[in-house]
Amino acid sequence: MTQTRYLKADKAGDLEVAAQLLGQGKLVAFPTETVYGLGAHAFDVTAVERIFAAKKRPRNNPLIVHVASVDQARLLFDFDSSLFEERFALLSAQLWPGPITLVGKKSALVPDLVTAGSSKVAVRIPSHPVALELLKTCSLPIAAPSANLYTRPSPTTHEHVALNLDSQIEAIIDAGQTEFGIESTVIEIDTPRAKILRHGVVSAHQLQELLGDVEIPTAGQTETSMRTSPGLCMKHYSPNIQQVLLANEELLARSWFSSAGIILRQASEKNLALKLGKRPQGAGPTVKLPDHPKEYARDLFGAFYAMEKESLESLLIEDLLVLADDAEWTSICDKLARATT
Ligand code: TXA
Ligand code: MG
Repeated sequence: MTQTRYLKADKAGDLEVAAQLLGQGKLVAFPTETVYGLGAHAFDVTAVERIFAAKKRPRNNPLIVHVASVDQARLLFDFDSSLFEERFALLSAQLWPGPITLVGKKSALVPDLVTAGSSKVAVRIPSHPVALELLKTCSLPIAAPSANLYTRPSPTTHEHVALNLDSQIEAIIDAGQTEFGIESTVIEIDTPRAKILRHGVVSAHQLQELLGDVEIPTAGQTETSMRTSPGLCMKHYSPNIQQVLLANEELLARSWFSSAGIILRQASEKNLALKLGKRPQGAGPTVKLPDHPKEYARDLFGAFYAMEKESLESLLIEDLLVLADDAEWTSICDKLARATT
């Protein structure tokens, strides 16, 4: 058991405390623009070991290293081809700080534990001002997976982090709700064809426009990418509820008066309520999510955590597969496919 300190991003001195803890090899959860991360000094293998232990994360799933500057990021890579270096220069200039993670051959500085034995490392500069300030203050490379237990939804508030990791880590920084609510896009850039390893905030379309040619897995597709990014394993992001299903309109209508929890878009709720009436008092809980993809993504994992408190046997999430080809919804459909497997 560890006493967890609750720090406030806007309280004088608290970020310095967090930076000091990281320097001492302690674990600190911090906000990024995507989701909260669980950070440790990336070159301190004892600290990194504790990340895997606290999350109950398998050792074959590598960690993203977070840094404050492009120069710091360069030190973590071994640019063994000009193509790799050119793509790094382009994407780091265009998209950093921001929700994109670059994967390529690692330099000798990066411990094998961080990359789970892989010869490649994943690196990103987050844009959240608190994350950036923390990284600058400690001036260390910080290995940080999302701050949730293995297979659970990523945390978008410090309360979600506490639900997962209270008494396991030294500190949690509270900076309110994260902006995007889904994780960074992970792209491998040292292969002949750049390849998206995980869908995320930056759309595949945007990457294609920047790089020309990019290999893109379809939403929910994993088999081929699993070897390179084990984090893509199918079961992920799941709410802790016995049965979690994707539901089309027909199934939602059939379950409208049942005790099942339902998560759907505002417009879909309105539409069904017009046909069937509002869900009655005795029926299960309903969470309405915004119709716009950016806001939908921001609130999705929070909806999962809210539904977990309702002691449900069954949760239905509106199936959005009809939207999967729309670049703005692809990453969301990918999360939904995994949450319901
Ligand atoms: O938005 C994010 O990326 C958040 C915030 C905290 O930065 N982090 C995050 O980390 O989502 P995590 O550990 O939950 O997911 C990292 C993903 C996994 O799919 C992992 O397999 C992949 O990145 N990854 C990390 N290092 C890799 C590597 N060396 N090669 C291939 N994939 C890697
Ligand atoms: Mg994660």
